Amino acid sequence: MEAGLSKPASTRIGGGIVLETERLILRQFTDNDVDAVFAVIGDPLTMKFYPQTFTREDALRWVTKSQERYRTEGFGLFAVVLKLNGKVIGNCGPVMQNVEGESLLEVGYHFRRDYWGHGYATEAARACVEYAFRQLGAPKVVSFILPENQPSQRVAERNGMTVEKLVTFHDLPHLMYAITRESYAQA
Ligand SMILES: CC(C)(COP(=O)(O)OP(=O)(O)OC[C@H]1O[C@@H](n2cnc3c(N)ncnc32)[C@H](O)[C@@H]1OP(=O)(O)O)[C@@H](O)C(=O)NCCC(=O)NCCS
Repeated sequence: MEAGLSKPASTRIGGGIVLETERLILRQFTDNDVDAVFAVIGDPLTMKFYPQTFTREDALRWVTKSQERYRTEGFGLFAVVLKLNGKVIGNCGPVMQNVEGESLLEVGYHFRRDYWGHGYATEAARACVEYAFRQLGAPKVVSFILPENQPSQRVAERNGMTVEKLVTFHDLPHLMYAITRESYAQA
């Protein structure tokens, strides 16, 4: 657990609902979510800004890693369920990142391509930013985004984030989008 951040009251593993928005439910991943994760990260077009393509094994690791984070940090990427049809359409959540010597809370998001263009990522990310400030007591929330990933930048911008600086993240130059607790409170 990172210094200065609160651990949420429940760190129980097992698909518990963490957040609910108008159209979405964000819940912890279970072992049964591997195919749903693979439907997102196994699509080379969806992940075109990532340096590698992802296999089903990677999807399994993604779920396991998220569950490990729930245990150790109390949060991580969550499964995003569309209330309309009960399907897992993506993932979104707060993840601790250590970048250039700074420990920062990132909100990340990845959605199935056939569910793009409805504002679901923005809605999920907004709920996670609120969760990070209100439940976790984060001083700042960031998203690391490649300069060419404009859809992701628009999600960050719609949620009040602005570019703070250029950083090296996973060996590549990324824009660090950020929103501070103060600017969030004033919005
Ligand atoms: C990043 C990513 C989640 C963005 O998906 P998206 O569908 O563009 O984002 P949203 O779900 O918030 O939808 C927003 C779009 O829906 C439109 N929209 C339609 N109905 C809407 C509604 N009711 N509410 C809000 N927006 C709506 C918006 O106008 C917007 O379109 P625009 O960006 O062309 O202006 C998606 O591209 C993705 O999964 N990429 C791969 C993974 C990735 O790169 N993640 C980020 C790593 S940094």
